[in-house]
Amino acid sequence: MRSLIGILDLSTEEIDALIRVAEDIIANPDAYREKCKGKKLATLFFEPSTRTRLSFEAAMYELGGNVLGFSEATSSSVAKGESVADTIRTVNCYADIIAMRHPKEGAPLVASAKSQVPVINAGDGGHNHPTQTLTDLLTIHREKGRLCDLTVGFCGDLKFGRTVHSLIEALSRYTGIRIVLISPDELRLPEYMQNKLGSLDNVTFTETKNLEAAIPELDILYMTRVQKERFFNEADYIRLKDSYILTPEKLTGAKPDLSILHPLPRVNEISVAVDDDPRACYFRQALNGKFIRMALMLMLLDIQ
Ligand code: CP
Repeated sequence: MRSLIGILDLSTEEIDALIRVAEDIIANPDAYREKCKGKKLATLFFEPSTRTRLSFEAAMYELGGNVLGFSEATSSSVAKGESVADTIRTVNCYADIIAMRHPKEGAPLVASAKSQVPVINAGDGGHNHPTQTLTDLLTIHREKGRLCDLTVGFCGDLKFGRTVHSLIEALSRYTGIRIVLISPDELRLPEYMQNKLGSLDNVTFTETKNLEAAIPELDILYMTRVQKERFFNEADYIRLKDSYILTPEKLTGAKPDLSILHPLPRVNEISVAVDDDPRACYFRQALNGKFIRMALMLMLLDIQ
């Protein structure tokens, strides 16, 4: 029995295999409609979510299985003081696989240690969001046809953005990756991650505050929301929240085949006027999330 807590739990070969299965699901959906017949997914969401929870649920339904769970801590017995460990042991009585989002970093790891069924980390605090990273990798693969030899710009909240941290870790295992970090000083990528990147031979990285100057060299632009819920001080959030707003004008010098990604939800950092640009991939990305989660659940449930 295997869980997924961080993206590095998966080897590069396993990630490539998941992408292959997801692409096969897209091409041959009928072949997968009954693969999870009789299986139940529990979605335990202690923090808000639209895409992750609903795409997990849609994924299990499209595999022929069923779904149970809760979408906020207040509707579970956690509100009465029950521990994560007891919650997981109880849910083990009812479900074959668990997707869990929790504000506390490490909570899904604790859950996996207590669980007899696979636990998938659906986001823990500012720490990890491995299924978003798989979604991002599938999207890059579908848009570009490869995961190597790419210049990837990460823009916005690189400090608290867990999706940024996980995607950088995953891309760092491929060759020819050039990373451009675009953020205000206060939201720079944490030093421990910069040190890790600096120690790798197959990845180079630069830092800038200037989005417009960076755009022309990028193959991928990964925009992020400033993570309001991770700030201790509202005044800092208000000062930083609109640091970057991507508009059609700012894309004037961009490559014709640039791919613009965003894990969503978006607040203000991409103007809706960009949405009709064929280079805007973020809603296709949200759809890809369902297919890669289908592939992941098949893998963790050991279903061929
Ligand atoms: N990208 C993402 O995790 O979105 P949700 O918070 O809506 O699940």
